[in-house]
Amino acid sequence: MTNLVTSVILILLSVAGIVSAGRDFIGDVLRLPSEASRFFHRSDDDEVGGTKWAILIAGSNGYWNYRHQADVCHAYQLLRNGGLKEENIVVFMYDDIAFNVENPRPGVIINHPQGSDVYKGVPKDYTGEDVTVDNFFAAILGNKSAITGGSGKVVNSGPNDHIFIFYSDHGGPGILGMPTFPYLFADDLIAVLKKKHALGTYKSLVFYLEACESGSIFEGLLPEGLNIYATTASNAEESSWGTYCPGEYPSPPPEYETCLGDLYSVAWMEDSDIHNLRTESLHQQYELVKKRTINGNSAYGSHVMQYGDIGLSKDNLFAYLGTNPANDNFTFVDENSLQLPTKAVNQRDADLVHFWYKYHKAPEGSVRKAEAQKHFVEAMSHRMHVDNSVKLIGKLLFGIERGPGVLSAIRPAGQPLVDDWKCLKKMVRTFEAHCGSLAQYGMKHMRSLANICNAGIQTEQMAEASAQACVSIPNNRWSSVQKGFSA
Ligand SMILES: *[C@@H]1O[C@H](CO)[C@@H](O)[C@H](O)[C@H]1NC(C)=O
Ligand SMILES: *[C@@H]1O[C@H](CO)[C@@H](O)[C@H](O)[C@H]1NC(C)=O
Repeated sequence: MTNLVTSVILILLSVAGIVSAGRDFIGDVLRLPSEASRFFHRSDDDEVGGTKWAILIAGSNGYWNYRHQADVCHAYQLLRNGGLKEENIVVFMYDDIAFNVENPRPGVIINHPQGSDVYKGVPKDYTGEDVTVDNFFAAILGNKSAITGGSGKVVNSGPNDHIFIFYSDHGGPGILGMPTFPYLFADDLIAVLKKKHALGTYKSLVFYLEACESGSIFEGLLPEGLNIYATTASNAEESSWGTYCPGEYPSPPPEYETCLGDLYSVAWMEDSDIHNLRTESLHQQYELVKKRTINGNSAYGSHVMQYGDIGLSKDNLFAYLGTNPANDNFTFVDENSLQLPTKAVNQRDADLVHFWYKYHKAPEGSVRKAEAQKHFVEAMSHRMHVDNSVKLIGKLLFGIERGPGVLSAIRPAGQPLVDDWKCLKKMVRTFEAHCGSLAQYGMKHMRSLANICNAGIQTEQMAEASAQACVSIPNNRWSSVQKGFSA
């Protein structure tokens, strides 16, 4: 055994051209068996074995959601700098930002106030109406024949490969947004991940998720043993936060009337951008991102969570993200990329921030000002309509006293949002058939609809209550049911 180790080391050293300096060095290595094994372990790590794959997905559209696509573009540049190949990175983004009329720098997307362009070179695998739940799932599963539209690129991975998935968007309890309908439900995502595991086509998979209530996507749902490690921007019951927002600190350049990034997303990316990722583990990054995202326990932060096979977090980031050779000398040191607390904006209010700044800055009497005001008022009236309808349905189903408590009840940590996901989807459809689309903002009410299922309410009772609560569907773009149902 020792002889084998010696000869392998000799071969490695002679290949490296340092065998002449080697006699003492070899002696040292052999006197320290743990060093010898570290030597080999490191070289394994460098190779990692297998291919690194990634799926990057922004689940929103609209200029007021600039930040999600900016996050995804930034992630793409990071992975390319890390050495991943374009053919191994599948990008989903609506692609309505770079050339949006509101974008002050046409053709450019930034993810930091002083940031450079992150849009250039990002492949348009799935854009516009091709950003769908079905395509996302088919891409994960590597099932090309299940893809509709787009480039057809999928994660065609093998048993030794590492997969990284990053999702940035709005969400709600048990649900993630999509720029198309339906939205993505947690049970379906977990089923796809289990299927991928059963196919045996990866060694380990890391999932980074930015969305409101993102913990609810995995809480009580993602089992151990799938070789999947997930971290989320927030726990199961709180908002996540946009950052680099107008009027906050740090703020974007003055010409931007929208948030440039999300707090958890920029935390992991700005950390990854500056380190030799062979020297930083997933766990170290989790701790750092957690500290930055809680934002000094201020009102502007959320609790980063981890789920699944926590043991995988001892892996170096390199196994998933590669590493930028320019950072070779920047070994990870605890806390060296923590930034000062920031003022952030609740993800659910970021659209209002956009309309408000647009309104505020537009010249008096201009078309632009009138348009911004109209959008602001529409968004507010949609919110009030959805909030009031759900509240009223709760009272109709459970009584005036009990209603609000039943709807807002939170199950103990470790339990999934709902037991019967089919029921939840039916309740969503029933609500939307009578009251109009929940839309981006309305995803927050998913817990109420889940609790209606958990209380054993039947679809017919829900239909009756919804019909009573919503006499008509408001006629504005936020409440349209023409495009389809969320579930
Ligand atoms: C791939 O998708 C097609 C079409 O949806 C389906 O019939 C087939 O079973 C899928 N294959 C695998 C391996 O999941
Ligand atoms: C890292 O440091 C070494 C030694 O100072 C130097 O030769 C090398 O060029 C540096 N690498 C990078 C990427 O800066």
